[in-house]
Parts: sequence; C-alpha cells; structure tokens
Amino acid sequence: MAGEYKRIYDESINNPEAFWKRAAEEIDWYKEPTKILDASNKPFYRWFVDGEMNTCYNAVDRHVETGRADQLALIYDSPVTGKKETYTYGELLSSVSKFAGALSSLGVKKGDRVVIYMPMIPQAAIAMLACARLGAIHSVVFGGFAAHELAVRIDDAKPKVIVSASCGIEVKKVIKYKPLLDKAIELSSNKPEKTIIFQRDEAEAEMLEGRDLDWNEITGKSQPAECVPVKSTDPLYILYTSGTTGMPKGVVRDNGGHAVALKWSMKNVYDVNPGDVYWAASDVGWVVGHSYIVYAPLLQGCTTILYEGKPVRTPDAGAFWRVISEYGVKALFTAPTAFRAIKKEDPEGKLLGDYDLSGFEYLYLAGERLDPDTYEWATDLLKIPVIDHWWQTETGWAIVANCMGIERQEVKAGSPTKPAPGYQVEILDNQGQNLPAGEEGIVTIKLPLPPGTLTTIWRNDKKFEESYTDMFKGYYFTGDGGYIDEDGYVYIMGRVDDVINVAGHRLSTGGMEEVIATHPDVAECAVLGVADSFKGQLPVGFVVLKDGVNRDNDEIASELVGMIRNEIGAVASFKKAIVVERLPKTRSGKILRGTIRNIADGKDYKIPSTIDDPDTLKEIEEHLKSEGYAKRD
Ligand code: COA
Ligand code: AMP
Repeated sequence: MAGEYKRIYDESINNPEAFWKRAAEEIDWYKEPTKILDASNKPFYRWFVDGEMNTCYNAVDRHVETGRADQLALIYDSPVTGKKETYTYGELLSSVSKFAGALSSLGVKKGDRVVIYMPMIPQAAIAMLACARLGAIHSVVFGGFAAHELAVRIDDAKPKVIVSASCGIEVKKVIKYKPLLDKAIELSSNKPEKTIIFQRDEAEAEMLEGRDLDWNEITGKSQPAECVPVKSTDPLYILYTSGTTGMPKGVVRDNGGHAVALKWSMKNVYDVNPGDVYWAASDVGWVVGHSYIVYAPLLQGCTTILYEGKPVRTPDAGAFWRVISEYGVKALFTAPTAFRAIKKEDPEGKLLGDYDLSGFEYLYLAGERLDPDTYEWATDLLKIPVIDHWWQTETGWAIVANCMGIERQEVKAGSPTKPAPGYQVEILDNQGQNLPAGEEGIVTIKLPLPPGTLTTIWRNDKKFEESYTDMFKGYYFTGDGGYIDEDGYVYIMGRVDDVINVAGHRLSTGGMEEVIATHPDVAECAVLGVADSFKGQLPVGFVVLKDGVNRDNDEIASELVGMIRNEIGAVASFKKAIVVERLPKTRSGKILRGTIRNIADGKDYKIPSTIDDPDTLKEIEEHLKSEGYAKRD
C-alpha cells in the first residue's frame, strides 16, 4: 500500500513501545512483558524487561505443538561430502532436546557458556538451539579462525563445555578441527571441563581420555531436556566480532528482544511466511548464520537450509541455482562476493538454464557494499528483486533495507534504501553535528536501538560505551561512513575505523598488525584493506624492517603471510606483505592510512598538510606500482 512504509516507520520511531509491544505478541511468553522499554540506565536500554520466555521453545517446540511437526524445519545440503539430510520440526525437537540433555548431564545450566566451533553441519544448529533450551549462552566461533583466535574467545567467554567436530571441508580440502581445538585449549588459561566432538566420516579426531566425549555416545545416553524459562534480558549468545584491535568484541544478544525482532523481520523485511523455504548462504559462525540460518527462519516456522559448500567449485557456478530449484527456495540471502564469484565463472549465467527457478522470488544481499555492477548483473539474470540491506553483527538484523513485506521502494543502485522500522539513522560530522542531505559523514543511530540489537559487550559495559556510545552522546556509532540523500536513501561508503571486509568476512587490520609486529625483523607495520574486484577488500601489509636486518625481503614477506594464516586463519586472506623503507606519517607520528589506501586504490589523494615528509608518499606509491597496485582507471 502506498505510504505504508512511511506510516509503519514513523510509528516505530514516534511510539516504539506500542510498536514493539504488538510485535511481541507474535512470541510465546511464559510471562508476558508489561514493561516494554526500560530506559532507566542509559545508554543500556532493555526491552521487555519483565517478560519470560525461551527462544528454543519459540523456534522449535511451538511449531510441533501447532501442527508443523511433519514440516521440514532444516535441510542440510553438503556438496562437499555428497550428503543430504532433512529434519522435520518433530525430528529437530527430538535432536535438540536430546543434545540439551547431554549438555545438562555435564552440568551445563542457565547462564553457563558453551563455545561451539563447528563446520556447517546440522549439529552446529542443534547445539545452538540446545544451549538456548537450557538458558545457557552459546558462543559460536567461525571454523575458518585458527587456534589463537579460538583461544582468545575461550579465555573471554570461559565456557564450561566446548562443542566441536572432527573436521570441516573446504571444497576438497579436509581441515582437521581437533588439533586446532587442542592447541586453542592449550593456549587458553581457561580450560573447559569437557568437550563434545562430532566425529565425521572424512576425518576421525583423536580423543583425550577423560575430557573429550563423543557426540553420538553422550547423546545416545541422555534424557531429553525441557525448555528452561529465561528472562527476556538474559543473554542468548555472545558473538565475537572484529574491532580495531586483536581483542574481538563479545557482542551480547538477549533472548526476548532478539526473538521479537527476528520474527518480525521475516515477514516485514524479507516477506517470508511460515512454511516458506528460506536460505541464507552464509556460515553459522557469522551473524548472518546466527540470525538467518538458525533463529529467524525457525522462529517464523520456515524451512531453513544449511548448505556446506561454496557458490562455485562445489561443483560449479550453478550450485546456488541447483539448491534453489531442488528445495523450492523463495528467498536467498548471501553476500555480494558470492555473486561476484558466480559472475566470474559464468558471466552469461548459462548454468541458470539448467534449473527451474520459478519459485524464487527474492535475492537479498548484505555483509559488504553491493557494487552497482553486481547488482545489475544479478537483476538482469534473475529478473527478481535484488535487495541490498545494511547491518552488522552488533545489530543482528537490518538497519537499512528495502522492506519487501511492508512496501517495495524504488531501488537506487548503490544504496540499501531507507532505514528499517526502529532505526533512526543520522549522519554526523566529527563534532557530532547533523550533516545536510548528500554530505558524507559518520553514520550513527539515535538511541535507543530497537529490540534484537546488542545489549552490551560481554562482561565489559565500559568497552560497550567506549566503542559505541561515548563518541556522540545519545547515539550509537556504527563505524561506517556514508550519507543520506534528499529522498532519505542511505548510502554506506565503508568503515571509518580499522575494520575491513574481505569476501563478506569482517576482519581487523589492527589484529593483523599485532601479529606482524611480533616478527623479530619487523620494526613497524601497517595493514590496510585495499580494494579488490572479487573479495571487495584484501589486506596488504606494509612493513619497515629493523636496522641491520639483511635478509631477503620476499622470504620475510612469506613468513608474515604464514604467521597471519597460523594465528588468525586462512579466512584473513592475507597474501601480500610489502617491505618499505619508511611509512608515511604525520608530524605527530600517526601513519597516514587513508592516504596510503587511496594511493593503493588508484584514487586521487591530497598530500596532507600535517605530513612529516612528503617524499614518503612518493616512495610508497612506487612500491605499490611495482606490486601491481595504484592503477588508475
Ligand atoms: N573453515 C576453514 N577454512 C575456511 C573456512 C572455514 N569455515 N572458510 C573459509 N576458509 C578458508 C578458505 O578455504 C580459503 O583458504 P585458502 O586461502 O587456503 O584458499 C580462505 O579461508 C579464504 O576464504 P574466502 O575468503 O571465503 O575465499 P574462498 O576463495 O574460499 O571463497 C567465496 C570465496 C566468495 C566463494 C566465499 O567467500 C563465499 O561464498 N562468500 C560469500 C558467503 C559468505 O560466507 N558470507 C559471509 C557473511 S554473509
Ligand atoms: P558484520 O558485522 O560482519 O556483519 O560486518 C558489518 C559491516 O559490513 C558493516 O559495518 C559495513 O561496513 C559492512 N556492510 C554490511 N552490509 C553492508 C551493505 N549492505 N552495504 C555496505 N556495507 C555493508
């Protein structure tokens, strides 16, 4: 209906309590909330404070009780192993309650943490839901992170139990998880009491007597566990995300606000109804996987797909079309980089002709900027709405979107459209002044954030304030730069901090610098995200060697590449370190990162007036040119 978006959006901002109270009626509560928004401890807003519920009950049990027991809840499709499995809601309930029983037999109870380090197998989702069932707090760690990254998260979350699998599979490569897990536990000062390992056929993990338990054995012996009522504000999960340093931030999500917002988003943002097949081609280790592989589709009574494969090479660039046609997918959500991968291998989209995509209605993209080329290509090929939307781990659901279930807005390529209900997006300058339409500045959201967004940083309220709310009083700092045009369309132009986005994966250049700085030959370094036509950005390291180091530069560079792979993980895609004599700096010693990035990307750049020695810029430009960067169109 014309004007519907504006009407709903305005209500969400002018009368948020009435708006979200209505949305909360879609959730089953043990105790219905009477207090909708608690603003007594700003900037820590709390939603549905006196409500009690259970997220697993809402995602699984209630569908069984209301006639969906035989409907498919989860489809596992794994081209890398050749396996396919399905779980009806009834079967999912049985698996989840048994695994919850297994955790419970190890003493896991409400408030305890469980780290989940798993590949894309159904057991990952089962473990998450089992934690939610008990009121335990899960912290899923992406399988592409190496032992050190896992150890950092174990030390912060202090889990009672870790759930893992013997291996993951990357196209044809079998990645043994157990040695990584063992190393991480060895590195961490907080040792979990037990681990539960799911043994996969592709690699058998060696078990440590007394600590490691076999998933099937312990689940086979356990009694199913019932749902434990939790407070709306009790944490459901911690998800660590890259900040500006090597210490990731433990984003805390509550139970009640999360369930209300995600359930609401399925119809209103994605136009997806109970019974529809919804596929988020991401990984359970990222926020997209948490929100849109596991929780939201199940809260909505959809069938969700857990796909263990890639858009290409498993076996070809028709992989996504195969899954969409085989299961009747209505909406696919993935990152633009996946579509760039398909476009690269099958530019004319010939493989699409092999499949029936008549049930496919929407393609949703997020996780990084949707470049207009990819948008046009996907739109021409699929002839369905291709919807960009912008959000982040912290918010858990879309901040800016073209809300398909409310009212379709005209698309402007390069913009994820307008703020989703609940989010008051404003562009501020460095002094916190509002900028006029069209002017680029810092993208902020006026507090309070809507339900489902982060409530704090795990056991670190101070860090929450420092990272997000201290900069501009009354606002949440998103870390992104951008502008809003005169029609209210938001444009996100990229991060204003040291976070980069590589193939839709969020990484910290500061974290990479911390690793490189430990190399004995390195005096100082800077890691920057340089534009890449396939992965969006790629990290490039610039290193200055210590005086007197007289070794082959290529050898040092390849040692640095190896260090990042071992310490952070292959997912960092750190393939390039360049040895330079000096780094361009301001007179106060700050590295001119933005200027170096502009040079590398072949963009125009100004020589900053604060520069210490302008020759350093010319030197770095020469280095970059000799490495194939700094090309102008
Ligand atoms: N476990 C272990 N290793 C992993 C991993 C995991 N879960 N995920 C990625 N890696 C490894 C890859 O194998 C690769 O290793 P390599 O350097 O030995 O080749 C490296 O990490 C980089 O991975 P990635 O950047 O994903 O590159 P890729 O070439 O393997 O795949 C895409 C590129 C575009 C196909 C893939 O990134 C993709 O499908 N992305 C879109 C969907 C998505 O996951 N988005 C995330 C948020 S929505
Ligand atoms: P993550 O927390 O991993 O989801 O990454 C969030 C960051 O990815 C955001 O802060 C943005 O920088 C970027 N991002 C996500 N979606 C988009 C989008 N649609 N357009 C532009 N940038 C995006």
